[in-house]
Parts: sequence; C-alpha cells; structure tokens
Amino acid sequence: MGPHAMPHTEDRADVLVVGGGVIGLVTAWRAAGRGLRVAVVDPEPGRGAAWVAAGMLAAVTELHHGEEALLDLNLASAARYPAFAAELTEAAGADIGYRDCGTLQVALDADDRAELRELELLRRRCGLAASWLTGRECRRLEPMLAPGVRGGLRVDGDHQTDPRRLAAALRTACERAGVVFHRDEARELTVVGDRATGVVLAGGDRLGAGQTVLAAGCRSGELAGLPPELRARVPVRPVKGQVVRLRIPPGYAPFLSRTVRAVVRGAQVYLVPRLSGELVIGATTEELGFDTTVTAGGVYQLLRDAHELLPGITELPLVETLAGLRPATPDNAPLLGPSGLEGLQLATGHGRNGVLLTPITGEALAESLTTGELPDYARPFTAGRFATETREVPA
Ligand code: GLY
Repeated sequence: MGPHAMPHTEDRADVLVVGGGVIGLVTAWRAAGRGLRVAVVDPEPGRGAAWVAAGMLAAVTELHHGEEALLDLNLASAARYPAFAAELTEAAGADIGYRDCGTLQVALDADDRAELRELELLRRRCGLAASWLTGRECRRLEPMLAPGVRGGLRVDGDHQTDPRRLAAALRTACERAGVVFHRDEARELTVVGDRATGVVLAGGDRLGAGQTVLAAGCRSGELAGLPPELRARVPVRPVKGQVVRLRIPPGYAPFLSRTVRAVVRGAQVYLVPRLSGELVIGATTEELGFDTTVTAGGVYQLLRDAHELLPGITELPLVETLAGLRPATPDNAPLLGPSGLEGLQLATGHGRNGVLLTPITGEALAESLTTGELPDYARPFTAGRFATETREVPA
C-alpha cells in the first residue's frame, strides 16, 4: 500500500471517486489494483458521456492545430489499448468490442479535400504517417462509399472499441476488485482546513476518504464545496453531441469494414461499424450548456451528411437517437492528478477523447494516488495550467 493510503475502517475509503463514467471507473479499478480501498459515487455507474460515444480511438483523425501535446498522450493511450482490452476482458469476463480496423478519412468536395490536405500536412509535421488515396482507391477499400468521394487519407492506427461494453466491463472489474458503489449524487465536497476530506451525498450521508477524485465529467466544476480558486482551475464545460444508431440486419453484407469519417460542408461526420452490426453515426458539436435534447435538425444533419458518404444507409433500421455532453476544457486536453487542494485529485475534462484516454488515465491516476506524483507523460495536464491571472482591463 502506498504512502497515501489511509488505515482501513468501515466507512472511510482510501480513495473516493466522484463520477462513475469510464474515467471514474478506470481510476477506481486501477487504484483498487494497487491495494487501495476504493469507493465510487454515482447514481448510475457506467452511464456517463461514454454511453453516447461512438468509441473511436482517433488519436490521429481528431488531431487539431495546437493540440500537439495532447497528441502524445492520445498516441500513448492508443498504444496501450490492445493490452488494456485483454486485461480488462480477463478481469471482467466480458469483451469490450475492441476492433483494430483502422479509419478512412474522406473528402466529398474540393473544399473538404483542401481541409483534409491541411490536416495531412499537420500530421506529417507531427511525424505521423498518412497515405493519401484517390476517390477510386477509397472505394476499392470501402465499396459502399458514394461515387462523389474525391479522395481520402488512410489512417491504419485509429481503431475503435464499444464504449457501453467498456463501461460495463469496468463496472464488473471494479466490483470484482472490491470497489464499493454508492448509487447517489455527490452534493458537496467536504473540506476541513486546507484538505478535502470526502463528500456529502444528496441523501445526506457523509463519506470520508483519504483522497477524493473528481471525475464528474462536464459537471466537475459545479460540485458545491469546491473552493472558488479551485473552481476556476476546473474549467470544464458541456459540449453537446447528438448521435444516431442504425443496425445492419443479420445476413446483410457489411456496409463498412472500418471507421469512415469526413468533413462535409465544414461539419465532421463519422460512421463507426461494430462487429455486432451496429452502425453509429456521429456527432454534432453544439455549445448549448447542459441541453441534451435530440433535435430534428441534429438528426437531419447527421443522416444527410452520412447519406452523402454512404447512400445505402437509408435502408437500415434506425434504432436509437440520443445526445450526450462531452466534458471539454479550453485546450481540449484533460485535467489529471493533483488539483492544488490537498486530498483532491482530478480525472476529468477529456472532451472528445475520453474513451481513447481511458487506459492511460487509469494508469496515471493510480500512480498519482499511490505515490503523490503523476508519471512524466501526464504532468502537462494538471490543473495548474489554468491558474487564474488577474487581467488589467483598460477603463
Ligand atoms: N470523439 C468523437 C466525438 O467527440 O464526437
């Protein structure tokens, strides 16, 4: 047991994780694996943002200008996925739908192609391989693609997993590792002196812990009791994404053999084919606060853009539409490790990359919780980078 562990008592955990999405669950599982006594607070563990996510492990195809530091973390987590998937499958006795199928990123018109060429240059500057294909070569790989596809990039290292299976497996692995679940909301962080000491639940119970981990996704900055200066260092906001799920009926030829994504009239769309026959189409990007309404406009946009790429989708049964909230930070990178308040660590703000960053977040937080130090690769992602500055505003 590491230096941060507390003596075991009936009602006091070494580590109390606030939030039972995939990030909170992996933190709990990995901390329990280090011999810590762990509890998770969540009314519905496994129902975080990953419930809606498509599960792309898109370190390369979601790279944007200015995110080179995040790219290193994303690539490191992607590299861990095969071993992580095997270990979790063994621990939970359940498969997580990891599929090393690669991704094809295509362009439909000259503007899309110019944008894709820009991204190709950025990738090359970052030392990433990317092979440019003509429209005909794209269709040779994926024969169901529309004749209008003008070209694309083949990115063989961007794979996928099934986020719902991932969450369920993590929950089982946690239970098997002795993690205790409190199915309630955390109402307030308790702070005594200069130290976080646990939470008060909505039902009124107090839970004490040696260390509390804030893993509450886009609601992380809202937890009552967070000292104001710390709240400013947890600038996590919700970014809405609507998705549509179709089903390829048994007996149909597979529509796609890999993830296909595109920029259509400036908006991202992706189609993620699962071995189960599910085809996930996502996602809108909307800054609308905590709104999770599925709108006709959102679904129309997704189906219209997906149909331009893959006209055959119109014959598939539509099984689900839903909207989720990405927990985004100003630089699109997560908040990991010590918060600046003794006894409180962060595992939140994973934005578009929560499923991808699950393995490395669990590893980094387990290290931080047992030694008090994040591994080198995670140090650029502490909350210190959002330290508040007072700005002089001219009168
Ligand atoms: N990573 C996919 C999305 O955020 O839509």
